[in-house]
Amino acid sequence: MKHDLLGLYPLSGEEIDEILTLGLGMKALLKRGGSLSDLKGRSVFTLFFENSTRTRCSFELAAKKLGATVVNLGVSTSSVQKGETLVDTGKTLDAMRCDVIVIRHPAGGAPKLLADTVRAHVVNAGDGMTEHPTQALLDMLTMREHLGTIAGKKVAILGDIRHSRVAKSNLYGLTKLGAEVSLFAPRTLMPAGMDALGARICSSREEAVEGADVVMGLRIQLERQKAGNFPSLGEYARYYGVDSRILSYAKQGALVMHPGPVNRGVELTSAVIDGAQSRIEDQVLSGVAVRMAVLKLITREDGYDL
Ligand code: CP
Repeated sequence: MKHDLLGLYPLSGEEIDEILTLGLGMKALLKRGGSLSDLKGRSVFTLFFENSTRTRCSFELAAKKLGATVVNLGVSTSSVQKGETLVDTGKTLDAMRCDVIVIRHPAGGAPKLLADTVRAHVVNAGDGMTEHPTQALLDMLTMREHLGTIAGKKVAILGDIRHSRVAKSNLYGLTKLGAEVSLFAPRTLMPAGMDALGARICSSREEAVEGADVVMGLRIQLERQKAGNFPSLGEYARYYGVDSRILSYAKQGALVMHPGPVNRGVELTSAVIDGAQSRIEDQVLSGVAVRMAVLKLITREDGYDL
């Protein structure tokens, strides 16, 4: 049986916990400068239809740290530009005996379509506005490392919830691990139905951040904003962003997080991004670690149902 990671929505809390536990071990290994050989002789292809710095580089590094051969398919210079379909591209990689395909795509559901049609394991590196499971896993790994546990913790997520696959994957994962998730966004950027998924919808930044253990800002996704959802970036920063005053409503020493890339001075002020509470750079190392854990678990012989 083939194992994929398409999202956190279908996973149980126990499965997420297992990934995080292995990820914490991988992070300790990375800090010691270590590497493993679990994927020696295997190949990992990255197939990114959208831009990326963190996710793509960290998947490549994670695969190499496990001993895999990595091929980065440059979509802009590939036969996709000649009209080759996603499924035919996947079958072509399959024919090369590819073991894992890591895909980012602007269309929600593209990783599932690929997983249904190829032999290789498929990992979702972000699909449209749907899910970004490894981002949420690295966020949770960072929380677990610094807070000890996630159950009972208060996580405030502020920003463009509507377009954010990161917010959705975090909501699925965090609630399964017993965290309380508060959301705040301009009304135009808060999709319907988030309360039914377990979130507490807040009507102000102060309400969302009050007593929080973690304050997470989300990127304003300018590339997905077709309509004017707020008047200007300056007004967004002033009325919806996180500055030192807003952060003071959180618990003392609360973690500041952001998936990146940050629009500096828009979602978070520079003082918050570069402040002592910021864990934004640490999230990046967590990303390599958790992706090592995911690649190891989905490819292991006895399988792992993600
Ligand atoms: N957080 C995140 O997905 O960043 P990249 O777009 O740089 O991969």
